[in-house]
Amino acid sequence: MANVVVVGAQWGDEGKGKIVDWLSERADVIARFQGGHNAGHTLVVGNQVYKLSLLPSGIVRGKLSVIGNGVVLDPWALMEEIARLEGQGVRITPENLMIAENAPLILPLHGELDRARESSTAVAKIGTTGRGIGPAYEDKVGRRAIRVADLFDPATVAQRIERLLTHHNALRRGLGLPEVDATDLQARLEEIAPKLRPYAAPVWKVLNEARRAGKRILFEGAQGSLLDVDFGTYPYVTSSTTLAGQAATGTGLGPSAAGFVLGIVKAYTTRVGEGPFAAELHDEIGEHLRTVGHERGTVTGRNRRCGWFDAVLVRQTCALSGVNGIALTKMDVLDGLSELKICVAYDLDGERLDYLPTAADAQARCKPIYETIEGWNSSTAGARSWADLPAQAIKYVRRIEELIQCPVALVSTSPERDDTILVTDPFAD
Ligand code: GDP
Ligand code: IMO
Ligand code: MG
Repeated sequence: MANVVVVGAQWGDEGKGKIVDWLSERADVIARFQGGHNAGHTLVVGNQVYKLSLLPSGIVRGKLSVIGNGVVLDPWALMEEIARLEGQGVRITPENLMIAENAPLILPLHGELDRARESSTAVAKIGTTGRGIGPAYEDKVGRRAIRVADLFDPATVAQRIERLLTHHNALRRGLGLPEVDATDLQARLEEIAPKLRPYAAPVWKVLNEARRAGKRILFEGAQGSLLDVDFGTYPYVTSSTTLAGQAATGTGLGPSAAGFVLGIVKAYTTRVGEGPFAAELHDEIGEHLRTVGHERGTVTGRNRRCGWFDAVLVRQTCALSGVNGIALTKMDVLDGLSELKICVAYDLDGERLDYLPTAADAQARCKPIYETIEGWNSSTAGARSWADLPAQAIKYVRRIEELIQCPVALVSTSPERDDTILVTDPFAD
């Protein structure tokens, strides 16, 4: 059976949640494999709006939803999210939610450190979500993280806390933050442990068994490829690997399990936080995209920066994740614009570049080279079939496919679940 890996192919907020929700009708298991509650995935089903940060989007349909080892897990944020979703009528039980025992935890000290660094005037800020994502991943690779499985043995927790605080309290003294008290932290962890325990599972094993039983697995990426810690606009990135390859190591399945890689691509470009953005618009069209597209962050409420579609970036990210097809979202936001621009190359100090260079200063100096294409006057909003799209909108889609060297598999025309056009089925064997 075919599995599908969904990844954001720009700077996040491409509409992954909507597409994962749509696809999950035909999936058996939905798995998150990186990131944490820095993600904000919005699902619109009839008059209900679900906002998910840590829970895989499949939970809304009651599908088996797993949080893999590649995720950094804030147990308090998880419990709040579970309570919020249950308040909206979503049933969440250990039968439909499983959490990898080897997932590292985000603790209050990680959020504090993240925010202290961001508010420091000594270094340029990244514009993080302040959720402690970076510090938690640092502790994971620094081999001092507390992981889900550690929580269930008080002696282990005590040992882990000692190692962790040796590092963090030294750092906090330097930053002028109060030291963390080991007894307090232990008490907080002992209080949350029994709430988490029912969901803890050897997720790698559950997934491998599901695969052997011929179940369809849908991997739900968070963030976007340009926020990838290796290939993104470093240092203005998140701290995880956001590319499709991470679906395997972030869950415990081999790379052959990945199947179809679906890149989620917005019909224009947005980014939240700092960092280079060549096709950014600072004019009334940028404002139009922000207003019509409701481009305001789900997690932090910040305005998203908006710009034209950048084909250079998406061609690059499709290559980096081995994308087989894209889901092109928010086409309807472009309705009514008389002309559209697509960034087809960069001008770097007079030289034409067809890719994003690596050095941060070069990235910042790239000027967009645009191609102009006629817009459309009629509405694409709510279109559910290719035949419903105006001819000019189809031309725009076809031009994007050519430029990014990747076919369109799905087109999304509104936030609503079913306002989706299927071109190629990602689940087809
Ligand atoms: P994610 O982080 O990739 O899941 O994306 P977000 O949920 O943060 O942001 C995407 C926003 O666009 C959400 O508010 C969605 O409801 C909305 N959305 C998704 N697809 C479409 C679409 O085709 N058209 C419009 N107008 N909105 C969409
Ligand atoms: P979804 O899954 C958009 C951005 C932050 C910041 C940078 C680092 O909803 O697409 P972090 O808190 O991760 O250390 O912040 O990454 N960022 C996102 N931008 N969508 C997201 O998630 C994001 N998650 C992180 O704004 O620039
Ligand atoms: Mg989002």
